[in-house]
Amino acid sequence: MSVSQALDEIKIGGLGASRRRVEDDRFIRGKGNYTDDITLPGMLHLEILRSPLAHARIKSIDTSKAWDIPGVHLVLTGEMMATRNLAWMPTLSYDTQAVLATDKVRFQGQEVACVIADDPYIAKDACEAIDVEYEPLPAIVNPAQAVADGAPVIRDDKENQPDNVIYNWEVGDKAGTDRAFEQADVVSRLQLHYPRSHPSPIECCGSIADFNRATSKLTVYMTTQAPHIIRAAVALVAELPEHMIRIVSPDIGGGFGNKVPVYPGYVCSILASILLERPVKWIEDKSGNLISTGFARDIYLDGELALRKDGKILAVRMHADADHGAFFSDAQPSKFKIGLLHSTFACYDVPVAHLTARGTYSNKAPGGVAYRCSFRVTEAMFFQERMIAAAAADLGMDPAEFRRMNFVTDEQFPHRTPFGFLLDSGQYAKCLDVGLKAVGYEDFRRQQEEARKRGKLLGLGISTMTEPLGAGNSREYDILGIKMFDSAELKVHMTGKAILRTGAKTQGQGHETTWAQIVAHELGLPAEDVIVEEGDTDTAPFGMGTYASRSTPVAGAAVSMVARKIRAKARRLAAHLLEVSEEDVEWELGRFYVRSSPDRGVTIQECAMAAYSNMPDGMEPGLENTAFYDPPNLTWPFAVYLVTVEVDQETGVWDVLNIVAVDDCGVRINPMIVEGQIMGGLTEAYAMANMQFITFDAEGNCVGANYMDYLLPTAWETPGFELHSEVVTPSPHHPIGAKGVGECAAVGGPAAFVNAVIDAIAGTGVRNIDMPLLPDRVWEAITHGHDVSGAPPVRADD
Ligand code: CDP
Repeated sequence: MSVSQALDEIKIGGLGASRRRVEDDRFIRGKGNYTDDITLPGMLHLEILRSPLAHARIKSIDTSKAWDIPGVHLVLTGEMMATRNLAWMPTLSYDTQAVLATDKVRFQGQEVACVIADDPYIAKDACEAIDVEYEPLPAIVNPAQAVADGAPVIRDDKENQPDNVIYNWEVGDKAGTDRAFEQADVVSRLQLHYPRSHPSPIECCGSIADFNRATSKLTVYMTTQAPHIIRAAVALVAELPEHMIRIVSPDIGGGFGNKVPVYPGYVCSILASILLERPVKWIEDKSGNLISTGFARDIYLDGELALRKDGKILAVRMHADADHGAFFSDAQPSKFKIGLLHSTFACYDVPVAHLTARGTYSNKAPGGVAYRCSFRVTEAMFFQERMIAAAAADLGMDPAEFRRMNFVTDEQFPHRTPFGFLLDSGQYAKCLDVGLKAVGYEDFRRQQEEARKRGKLLGLGISTMTEPLGAGNSREYDILGIKMFDSAELKVHMTGKAILRTGAKTQGQGHETTWAQIVAHELGLPAEDVIVEEGDTDTAPFGMGTYASRSTPVAGAAVSMVARKIRAKARRLAAHLLEVSEEDVEWELGRFYVRSSPDRGVTIQECAMAAYSNMPDGMEPGLENTAFYDPPNLTWPFAVYLVTVEVDQETGVWDVLNIVAVDDCGVRINPMIVEGQIMGGLTEAYAMANMQFITFDAEGNCVGANYMDYLLPTAWETPGFELHSEVVTPSPHHPIGAKGVGECAAVGGPAAFVNAVIDAIAGTGVRNIDMPLLPDRVWEAITHGHDVSGAPPVRADD
């Protein structure tokens, strides 16, 4: 594209324009329309009674006092749900999950009963009037306890479940990896715990179910990132006809993976509305969200690198123990039990690798959601970059040089990893060079030496990441057999204004802005002439939803493809209007012209009018179309994050001095939005590394399920960022060369912070401090010269 063409495109808000987010007009005016903003006539309110215990048999539930409270319309228990076959529901990972507990409670905060009343306060009071008698059972809070001899079986409701193991999974070449380890000069080993982490969107989960007996139609307004999947789930679980179910996802105040699963509150509000024939609203509170909805991570990693003494990586061997909580409810491509953990080490040229993974139940809320990551990629990249840092230290090599010598080189693309992924494109060494220059690598190393002599601890951490974004393709990726692809529908009206609908669902990422930019790029219509709608299953074409940064790689590609279909028809209209054959018509942004006479042309808007008023004989009228896009491959963005810190050895407090981010996400549709995504991801990475503490004591009590312990950084705590965008490697298979970006910084960021702190305290012999790097843990490591590993050690009597 020439410079003048690029400028023309920027003028209409096309590709590369830092167009202001159109959705913000309503958000900054307080005119967003979130689930809790919706009030329907005759609406009732649902509140949930949650278990105070992590593991206990339910001896009895007495709801009589709750029924007696004026304003109460319905009290639901598991026993009542069971009469409708709704006490248990299937999960997205071929397991079952209790909607309301019947036999046992299996985690603290589990849903035991719910009350539907005139207002939420009455419903809450009535919940407290429900009398539940429990017989406590020993609790299991980690994988080691889950597989210990004599461990109580948590899922004794399931046939053929004699223990707490959910799966054993493996991928790679075991024999080849073993052989490579026999030839290694050095074997570097690291064990890590990636702690439980919570997406904590500002808006909690909620739903309003509205069943209309007269029309038999069920409308559910709800906080879901995947409305079409929810429609299918409701149809299958509640046995309602799918065309009589309308799921509407209004504005969503952040999802980050938290709003993908199906939660009991949704199911209860639907059943209650069907029974009462009135709209029923359930809005979760903050503690309910932190204690009971989808957590992420909680995974123990044990890995080894086989190394040649010159620094070449010969093989990777890795084992993961994943704690899934009481129900295996991960939303991920079904055949990959541990998500895409095997994307680990993808950016390094590793000849052979082997990964084993074991999933276990515990007495915790179901975990393993893809919190701002492509199904366990955060764990994969964290582990990779912590391993790389440890291996460089073991070899006595510079960590930047060690990375560079092992990177997949530019000439190796497309590159097949030992776990079978095909990397599309990248310029890894170039990104590293940009980052090292920006952070002033050599200078910082000198300053670090000098500071050490004065007793000050400075550290520099590097982290790189490449993430498989954009599941499908449908050959390899499905959820419960439903293939992963996406769609877009474009209707161009006669005056050249258009409406675009996709099967994705924005939760703050700015799709209303960027999808219109893709249409502007493909058709030359000004972006402001294109309105974007998502989230209503009655109007939007089918899609698998928005998570795992799959929107741009899949739905965004569908937008391009549907616009190209429209352009192809517009070309035929142009030929008709210009009275030449189609082959003689050329295209430039927004206009068709006659090749031999470029002054003779028609605009895309004129073609749109002709589609309704002057089409050639035999042509179907109108200018509308739909495209389903099944990507040929995933897109693989790459990033390098560099963090410098100063650690106070007296207190263990560490301050960030500088953060440099070099992201290559291919072609950027909207550079400003991309930068916002990277800043948000880095903020979350900083929070995970530094301040987010959520764990469980020996009795399974959730410690830290409040915002005094589980800290969300505000603008005050968040360090500044230096972002670099000069490396652009288009995806060769995406129609506009874009790769996903939404999660990259949250995925790659945490290791940069941890590596920086470990680098600062090098010399103490400490190899690892597990996140969060709270000051007392850093202080303990410095003072005692030992690793601080595992979940924070909280005992029942603390
Ligand atoms: O699936 P999700 O929307 O969370 O993630 P994404 O596809 O990475 O996109 C996040 C936001 O960044 C969207 O508004 C995208 O359109 C935008 N984006 C962009 O402008 N250029 C890219 N190369 C990738 C994403």
